[in-house]
Amino acid sequence: MNVLIYDSAEVIGQVVGKLFCDHVNNAPKACLGLATGVTPIPTYNYIAEEYAKGKVSFSNVTTFNLDEYCDLPREHRNSFYSFMMDNLFSKIDIKPENINFLDGNAADVEAESRRYAQKIEAAGGIDIQLLGIGRNGHIGFNEPSDKFTDEAFKVKLTDSTIEANSVFFDDIPMPHFAITMGIGSIMRAKKILLIATGESKAQAIKNTVEGEVTPQNPASILNQHPDVTIYLDRAAASLLK
Ligand code: PGA
Repeated sequence: MNVLIYDSAEVIGQVVGKLFCDHVNNAPKACLGLATGVTPIPTYNYIAEEYAKGKVSFSNVTTFNLDEYCDLPREHRNSFYSFMMDNLFSKIDIKPENINFLDGNAADVEAESRRYAQKIEAAGGIDIQLLGIGRNGHIGFNEPSDKFTDEAFKVKLTDSTIEANSVFFDDIPMPHFAITMGIGSIMRAKKILLIATGESKAQAIKNTVEGEVTPQNPASILNQHPDVTIYLDRAAASLLK
């Protein structure tokens, strides 16, 4: 894996955002895997600015988001669907029918998982998958566990994740379950870009870049992917040798 270190989260947003825009300009029917959280916001801001300047169009792009909370209405302001609408999709010309999410309220999770896998395959697979990383090394909502997962599944969130994300929930308690693309679905992306910024990610990054490959640190599997680039600010890189 390539590890690149930058001065700030904003600069990473420009670099990664440009990479997405360049890819879409070369391949207008691109299939993009997208992530939520604080980390990708500078990237989405850059993309929205480039769109506003007329430098890129997403009219033929298809997107697949990594994960969604369970037992939360899709339109709730804390859903990942709402996050993506607010931070990116409402600001660009992507067609609503080309936006894909796992349904956190699906009654049959296995059927929902199959539906998502088939839809990704029918779209030709994910060209570029954007990832953040949890303080516990999770990617998507693949929490530390005894085995690496494959396709999408329903997961009970760990205390660390609930603590990190519950600050965003001020009206209702944060859901304790989510549906997430599995490790296999993420690893099938042709190219993976992982961004980590801030000191709280430094240990997870050290474990990922310098530690062993283990499902106890889900991001460590990325060492087995042929095309992964990790973008770090100095704080997230601070424990690396
Ligand atoms: P964050 O979340 O960007 O809000 O830190 C990343 C993640 O948990 O994957």
